[in-house]
Amino acid sequence: MSNTIDLNKLTRQYLESLGKFGVRDLPAKSGRRLARLSIDVALTDEVIDSGPFTHAGDDHATLPDNATMNVKEASQKKAQLNEGVSASNGAYGPALDVRQRISRLNELRQAVTECTRCPELSSCRTQTVFGTGSPSPRLCFLGEGPGADEDRLGEPFVGRAGELLNRIISACEMRREELYILNTVKCRPPGNRNPLDKEVSNCREYFEQQLEILQPEFICALGTVAAKALLNTGESLGRMRGRFFDWRGSKVIVTYHPAYLLRTPEAKAKTWEDMQMLMKAMGVELTLSNS
Ligand code: URA
Ligand code: URA
Repeated sequence: MSNTIDLNKLTRQYLESLGKFGVRDLPAKSGRRLARLSIDVALTDEVIDSGPFTHAGDDHATLPDNATMNVKEASQKKAQLNEGVSASNGAYGPALDVRQRISRLNELRQAVTECTRCPELSSCRTQTVFGTGSPSPRLCFLGEGPGADEDRLGEPFVGRAGELLNRIISACEMRREELYILNTVKCRPPGNRNPLDKEVSNCREYFEQQLEILQPEFICALGTVAAKALLNTGESLGRMRGRFFDWRGSKVIVTYHPAYLLRTPEAKAKTWEDMQMLMKAMGVELTLSNS
C-alpha cells in the first residue's frame, strides 16, 4: 500500500485548501473527477491563480505543513505514470516534478519580462503577459496574444474574450485554476493587430518551453494564429477542427478564438462540438446541455 495514494486524505486536504480560498460549496461531481482534482492539487501544492510564481528556492515557504508527504507520494506516482511517456517520446526530457516546474517557469517568466526581441512590441507594452494556472495542468489553452485588458492586468484572457473563455471552461465543468492559459505572443500587438510572423517566431522559444515544462496531456489552440504557430501548418482552422494533432506528446485540438466567437456567434455551436470532443477524450462527462 505504500505506493498508493490515500484519496480520502487527499480529497479532505483538497477541500480544506479550497476552503482557504473561500470556496464554500462545490457542484456535485463524479468521484473520478474529484479524485483527479485532488491529485492535481496535491501535485500543485497551491493553486496559482495570478501573479508571478514563487521564486526559485522559495517554494518550500508556501507549502502547508501537512502537504509534504502527499506531494512526495503523488510526485512518485506521477513519475511512474510519466515513465511511459518520456520513454516513448524522445522530444521530452525527464518529467519534472512540481517544484522543478515552478522554478523553470519562474526563470522563463523572468526572461520574458526582460525580452526586447520585438522592438515595437517591447516599446509599446505596459507589461508582458506570461501565463497563468496550475503548473501540473491536464489541459492548456493557447491563445493568440494579449489585448488591452491583458496588457493592463498582466494576465491572459481577462477581457471580453476572457469572459467568453471562462464560460466555455465552466460549460466544460472545469475551473480556470486547474488549467493553464497562455498566449503565443507575450506582448500586446498595438491596436490589436495580429502578431507578425517575425513576432511569433521571436516568441516561439517562450511558448514552446512553457508547454514543454507543463507537459499537458491536452492543448486547445484558440484561433488561427495559435493553431498555425503551434502546428506549423498553413491549413485553415475549419479544416483542422474535429481531430487531434500531436505536439511533442500532447494531444492538440483547435477551435475558434473566443474573440471571433464574439463577432460570429453562430460559430459557437462548432466550438461547443469541439469542446465535447475534447471532454470525451479527457473522460469528463458533461451534464449541461447546449446553451
Ligand atoms: N485574446 C488572446 O488571444 N489572448 C488573450 O490573452 C486575450 C485575448
Ligand atoms: N479566423 C480567426 O482569426 N480566428 C478564428 O477563430 C476563426 C477564423
